Amino acid sequence: MKPPPFAYRRPEGRFALFRAEANARRFNASARRMAMPDLPEAMFLESIRALVRADKAWIPDSEDGALYLRPFMFASEVFLGVKPATEYLYIVMASSVGAYFKGAPSVSLWVTRDYARAGPGGTGEAKCGGNYATSLIAQAEAIRNGCDQVVFLDAVERRWVEELGGMNIFFVFEDGSLATPPLGGTILAGITRDSIITLARDMGLTVREEPYAIDQWRADAESGRLTEAFACGTAAVVTPIGRVKEVDGQFTIGGQSIGPLTMRLRSALVDIQRGAAPDPYGWTELV
Ligand SMILES: Cc1ncc(COP(=O)(O)O)c(C=O)c1O
Repeated sequence: MKPPPFAYRRPEGRFALFRAEANARRFNASARRMAMPDLPEAMFLESIRALVRADKAWIPDSEDGALYLRPFMFASEVFLGVKPATEYLYIVMASSVGAYFKGAPSVSLWVTRDYARAGPGGTGEAKCGGNYATSLIAQAEAIRNGCDQVVFLDAVERRWVEELGGMNIFFVFEDGSLATPPLGGTILAGITRDSIITLARDMGLTVREEPYAIDQWRADAESGRLTEAFACGTAAVVTPIGRVKEVDGQFTIGGQSIGPLTMRLRSALVDIQRGAAPDPYGWTELV
């Protein structure tokens, strides 16, 4: 399991964790799906705080800099066979990071038709290594086709947009409303996704969690009903999507200019994380 909270350098000379408790809860939900034991939430939180205190000098003093925290757990029992293990190792690693997508104003997506990321009843909503292993061949296909990231459709009908290999997705419409695929077991419940829904609704915007078909996406982009789309996640923050490519063609979104609502939501999120705006939600914890 590997939920990645980040630690951010704050103007007051301290460091902020963002929604660490939510990451702890998701870590345990993922552990349960893998037939692994829960980790006491207090241990998860204290391990992260301790590592941030020890490694704070490594947090870059730059606009996009952060300390990437990678808690993970694996079975360490000496045993050959298929059963839940009786012994586990829990480790937290950290690394200094900068912007995930460097330089590009928007990303391009490849719609994979050959590969699915997760099926009903599977492990799609767990943060486990296997989900990333599954996505790598499709991501390689995206790169071969000149795109930055792969976008997965549902495994049953191959029709409904689900998420990217490591990010959730949002659509913005001309009436100012937003939509994002609903959580139903096959999509990772992104903490950024949840934060964006909250921020957008508190701005008075309508956010629908509803299925969105790939053909509809294309039609809406071409008709102008869809004005913006963005990917979001701890690492990617909020990243505009400019172009979507399929085997039989491609379409652009909003004429490839960066959408104003995307940037407004991105700023609202980043300002809370970095202490440039108040945090009415109690999402940040100073270390
Ligand atoms: C498959 C997948 N979806 C979505 C996300 C976004 O989740 P979060 O916002 O919690 O980082 C991630 C991030 O790690 C991910 O790996």
